[in-house]
Amino acid sequence: MHTMNVLPKLSLISTVVVASLFLAGCGEDDKTDSPVILKTAFNQSEKNPQYKALEDFSQKLEAATGGKYKLEIHPNELLGDQRAALELVQSGAIQLAVVANPLVENYNKNFSVLAMPYIYNDSEHQRKVFTGDTLDGLFSSTKGNGFEVLTAYTAGARSMYVKGTPVKTPEDMNGRKIRVMQSDTMVKMLSCMGGTGVPMGQGEVYSAIQQGVLDGAENNEITYADLKQYEVAPNFSYTRHVMVADLLIANEAFINKMSPEDQAIFRKLAKESTVTEFDLFNQALDTARQSAISQGATFTEVDIKPFQERCKPLQESMLTTPEQKDIYNKIRALAN
Ligand code: GCU
Repeated sequence: MHTMNVLPKLSLISTVVVASLFLAGCGEDDKTDSPVILKTAFNQSEKNPQYKALEDFSQKLEAATGGKYKLEIHPNELLGDQRAALELVQSGAIQLAVVANPLVENYNKNFSVLAMPYIYNDSEHQRKVFTGDTLDGLFSSTKGNGFEVLTAYTAGARSMYVKGTPVKTPEDMNGRKIRVMQSDTMVKMLSCMGGTGVPMGQGEVYSAIQQGVLDGAENNEITYADLKQYEVAPNFSYTRHVMVADLLIANEAFINKMSPEDQAIFRKLAKESTVTEFDLFNQALDTARQSAISQGATFTEVDIKPFQERCKPLQESMLTTPEQKDIYNKIRALAN
């Protein structure tokens, strides 16, 4: 399964790399009227609220810079999965990507705090954290790795969904193989929830569940419905175990080449796109849920306390560095 999926993507990636190297040659310094194109990787569809927030960001950036910059968004993992997209941004082959926090955590462990189980009370709490300046230091810390985090988007709360008996307790997770994003924290999180985490890119999840390699996955309602995963795992249980940030990342050299004025506009609008994204995301949640229900999915409310209890030791083990403790305390201080 891996080989079949990876090969066409690799050749696509190299086409993109070559094409963008060509574009880079006639890019910003070339004083033509055509806008500088910011190639942007996105792993889900055009219907996703994050895609719409990126489109809005692009329009505002174009307007605010007199048509100088414009995003060209490539959805559906066309530029590769999030891990590949991050590498393309690092190398400068593309300029922007939305990648989930666990991927960035592989570069700086302090990011793991943002994807700690049960750290945010709710969406409002997370919005306060993402729209304020709490995370600014963390976000600029990846400089030197070729990329910078511009802002964080919400991806709601993630819950478990499976084929077969719906999950109601940690015991129901026993022996079940559940796909997680590609990071150690996500694998550990799945263990604290009672099951076994299998890391893989998003594009493979549907067929892996269908073929029985997985018993299910965990995600928000929008991704669940958008990628039609209810067809293979129709029992969705509201464990709401983690609210993983999605990060808008940009190539470092690209940002540094911008004029100070353009850079200020770019950063400001990127940050503001978070507000738009939260609104679009929260508006889309119910529609996603209703569409999954109309296709046969079942949504079950569960008692989250036993899951929270089991995840406490993991939470504690995730706060090892002084920076992690500091970020944790600042995030918790914004609850309520
Ligand atoms: C969410 C998140 C994505 C991520 C996906 C996943 O949809 O918004 O950024 O890729 O989950 O589970 O891979």
